[in-house]
Amino acid sequence: MESGKLLSGTLALAVFTAVLGSLQYGYCLGVINAPQKILERHYGRALGVLPENPTPSNHTEEEAPHPSVIMYWSLSVSVFSIGGVVTSFLVGFVGDLRGRIKGMLMVNVLAITGGILMGLAKMGKPHLMVIAGRAVMGFYCGLSSGLVPMYIGEIAPVAYRGALGTLHQLAIVTGILISQVLGLDFLLGNDAMWPVLLGLSGAPAVLQSLLLPLCPESPRYLYIKLGKEEEARKCLKRFKGEYDTSKDMAEMKKEKEEAMKEEQVSILALVRSSSYRQQLIVALMMHLSQQFSGINAIFYYSTSIFANAGVTQPVYATIGVGVINTIFTMVSVMLVDRAGRRTLTLIGLGGMCCCAIAMSVGLVYLTTYSWMSYVSMTAIFLFVCFFEIGPGPIPWFIVAELFSQGPRPAAIALAGCCNWTSNFIVGMFFPYIEALCGSYVFIIFAVILFGSTVFTYCRVPETKGKTFEEISAEFQHRRRRPPPDPKAATELEHLKSSTEA
Ligand code: GLC
Repeated sequence: MESGKLLSGTLALAVFTAVLGSLQYGYCLGVINAPQKILERHYGRALGVLPENPTPSNHTEEEAPHPSVIMYWSLSVSVFSIGGVVTSFLVGFVGDLRGRIKGMLMVNVLAITGGILMGLAKMGKPHLMVIAGRAVMGFYCGLSSGLVPMYIGEIAPVAYRGALGTLHQLAIVTGILISQVLGLDFLLGNDAMWPVLLGLSGAPAVLQSLLLPLCPESPRYLYIKLGKEEEARKCLKRFKGEYDTSKDMAEMKKEKEEAMKEEQVSILALVRSSSYRQQLIVALMMHLSQQFSGINAIFYYSTSIFANAGVTQPVYATIGVGVINTIFTMVSVMLVDRAGRRTLTLIGLGGMCCCAIAMSVGLVYLTTYSWMSYVSMTAIFLFVCFFEIGPGPIPWFIVAELFSQGPRPAAIALAGCCNWTSNFIVGMFFPYIEALCGSYVFIIFAVILFGSTVFTYCRVPETKGKTFEEISAEFQHRRRRPPPDPKAATELEHLKSSTEA
């Protein structure tokens, strides 16, 4: 076959193996929700503010938790994103150090350590063990949430780059859903099993470590970064079967020549360089729109949002959100290479904006009309559907598409850091803003979403079906200034010749 198999078994194995890292990220995002009350009780006992063996007379579990329990609990939740912010900066360094495969393999040490710390939490002081485990897990997720899209973006054939890139998000949402289900009290979300629930966060890393040695390295990394032409050819053939690699090699050669013109692009150089400014603004804005859309306000606080909206079984409604979330990410996998990134992001952000308004209307009028709870419920579900159509998955893989091999690792690191920081800000401050604005809280997200939709319309290009070269050519074209004024040029010539004379 002239151009080789586009979707081979090896490619499927490589993508499956890589996204086990994303599954783990999703699991860590969702797992902390359900066992909150149980963990608070264990923290309280370990801190000596709750009795060891509660009897009916000293049974205080329904009371508001002690301030130090609240503090340790908030830290257990947020230390994960702080870990992510710290290490997301190192994605480029780790990916380039020994390659994408060895990079993913190395960071699994963190995931397994984090899992063990939480799994053995009952053997030490549970609050300290959980916080340490979540921090180490955050370090891991900061790295893997960049390494996975980088590897997939580099190995995916142009025609399926969107669909394969979206699998990163599909694995994240599957991880969230698994954690929500396992967190039910009759499964693992109970007094006896919670360490297993948290410890399982490290399980996908074990499987991934076994499979990674079977996956080929990214040919782009081998050829463009290391100049290993023969090895790159071999890996291309492992991905696509026996075929003539000259077309793929020629495309990478062009990218390598471009990369050779510039020095290695560090994060600082990327921020300063005017040549990459346009791409960088688009990449960062897409990650900011993803997080400031308010999606994690739903994921972190859905149970209380549903309770406020008048739902009687909020835990099951939360699992419902997880299911819808997964289904619509699948829809996006099927659509993204046909409808395009730009169109889906526009539809997604615009739709979310309308849903945020509907949610607010529903919450504001809930006390006047009881049927308004249905309006809020439907709006929340649709909000999640629109998110997963575009604004959820696309920012994760579009950064690898917007940048060529030279600046790609630095750009992914910067975008990842932006994502983690804004995720932390929303997670941390949403309860305070909600307390301040009450039912109107989603209006803030609606305004941000409106701004993001306008930005996407004006600035985000379509990258569907284009090679990395064509995408960067489009940005160069946008950057090109209008030709200088001919009159001014003649004057300059005059001035030059008179000074030379
Ligand atoms: C995206 C976001 C993440 C969010 C998830 C929800 O992956 O980056 O913060 O929790 O979508 O599906």
